[in-house]
Amino acid sequence: MTSPYLFDVLIIGSGAAGLSAALQLPASTSIAVLSKGSLQEGSTRFAQGGIAAVLDNNDSIDAHISDTLNAGAGLCHKDTVRFTVERGKSSIDWLINQGVDFTRESDSERDFHLTREGGHSHRRIIHSADATGKAVSNSLVDQAQARKNLSLFEHRMAVNLIREPNLRSGRYRCTGAYIFNAETEEVEVFQARFVILATGGASKVYLYTSNPDGASGDGIAMAWRAGCRVTNMEFNQFHPTCLFHPQAKSFLITEALRGEGAKLLLPDGNRFMEKFDERGELAPRDIVARAIDHEMKRLGCDCLFLDISHKPREFITTHFPTVYQQCLAFGIDITTTAIPVVPAAHYTCGGIQTDLNGCTDLENLYAIGETSFTGLHGANRMASNSLLECFVFAEAAAIHIAGKMDSVDLPGKVRAWDESRVTDSDEDVVISHNWDELRRFMWDYVGIVRTDKRLQRARTRIGLLQKEIHEYYANYRISPDLLELRNLATVAALIITSALSRRESRGLHYTLDYPHAADLAKDTVLTP
Ligand code: FUM
Repeated sequence: MTSPYLFDVLIIGSGAAGLSAALQLPASTSIAVLSKGSLQEGSTRFAQGGIAAVLDNNDSIDAHISDTLNAGAGLCHKDTVRFTVERGKSSIDWLINQGVDFTRESDSERDFHLTREGGHSHRRIIHSADATGKAVSNSLVDQAQARKNLSLFEHRMAVNLIREPNLRSGRYRCTGAYIFNAETEEVEVFQARFVILATGGASKVYLYTSNPDGASGDGIAMAWRAGCRVTNMEFNQFHPTCLFHPQAKSFLITEALRGEGAKLLLPDGNRFMEKFDERGELAPRDIVARAIDHEMKRLGCDCLFLDISHKPREFITTHFPTVYQQCLAFGIDITTTAIPVVPAAHYTCGGIQTDLNGCTDLENLYAIGETSFTGLHGANRMASNSLLECFVFAEAAAIHIAGKMDSVDLPGKVRAWDESRVTDSDEDVVISHNWDELRRFMWDYVGIVRTDKRLQRARTRIGLLQKEIHEYYANYRISPDLLELRNLATVAALIITSALSRRESRGLHYTLDYPHAADLAKDTVLTP
């Protein structure tokens, strides 16, 4: 069959990376953008902090590069870091042109307020109060809805990528994807000359996470199944400060609070970060998260505390209105009280291996944003470099695709989705049970502090789960929960394999069995 959904470019994901690519492609390009939920449900909307870029005369490209390399603990790719950092200012100018309303200095109509976050030697985080992702997402969605060449599809979840032999190159090329329509519960075929994966990260693989529900590593799992290399999956970043409250699911307390002077406290009110790093609360995230984990385990307590109440009330409510309101809703007035906090999984530093154009190993398949591995983050992403990466690589991929458009044929015929051999499941408990089990053992055995023994336990369990999930997938009709579980299990297996093969501690990968960094820093590249 030839699909009724035939486009020049299919973009899977409608966050900062996906929509930026859509908006940067030429207006003559027909583009489909797919969202798993509603258009704005992805992780972008939840980003509080901001976007790192060199915008101040006292700052420099070299300083931003050097801070990124330091945080990345020897594993950043220097060419990627320079490529990204050098494009910071133009990315911000582009966003301003799209209508993003960044916060200005209180005494200036012209100058933007720049905040600080861990690992940055200068104030260089441009932001929209403490809801930068929401401001970016609102503007990009407005722009996208006004474009005639963009077709936006909500509640569409990608199942698998479609490949076909390319007679010109003798290799396989990507020509679309099978897509589950959650409204009709049917699988549709979307075909395109080019496919961009902008599906975000995989932090939902852990029991506690700052991410929204959809962060199930769909792009990484699909690209892996389609034959692409996946790199450095052991480096999952744990954000040091998420709100600890029984009813607060996934609520982040932005690092910008620490940038503006908030202190981390033990239950007895004493500070402790200086014991771990001379930069104190503004040490890179891996160090702060490990220090909190260490102190919580040492004291046997459920959480530690973050206190900004020494700052004037008006400063707090103006700079951090989202955190203020959200905490207040849980009965915590942050202008007078310290906030109970715990670390939680936050960002997937590894991902689908790409080059500087966002190209993956499969012809005409691109990956941008958190789903990709560009080499920017190394062993530990520096705060607010990730949104920057989305914009820089969205533009690079758009330019690359535009340059190749005329030389790529339309896709050929493709088989419709075949459901003739599956039935409706009568035991959905298998999905919910496996989902819970997976996220719990990933938290317990593949978390902030690892050992070989814990990783081996996790490897045994993921093997059993994958077998069960595979059988279930082969015999029963698919559902969004099953698709996400299958992807989470793939990603969990990639994380465990990568973690077991790294016999050292570096950045976000800390193991008691090899507590020091090896002399030579090497990526963990997995090939299907
Ligand atoms: O703390 C934050 O606002 C998070 C920023 C980031 O992950 O880049």
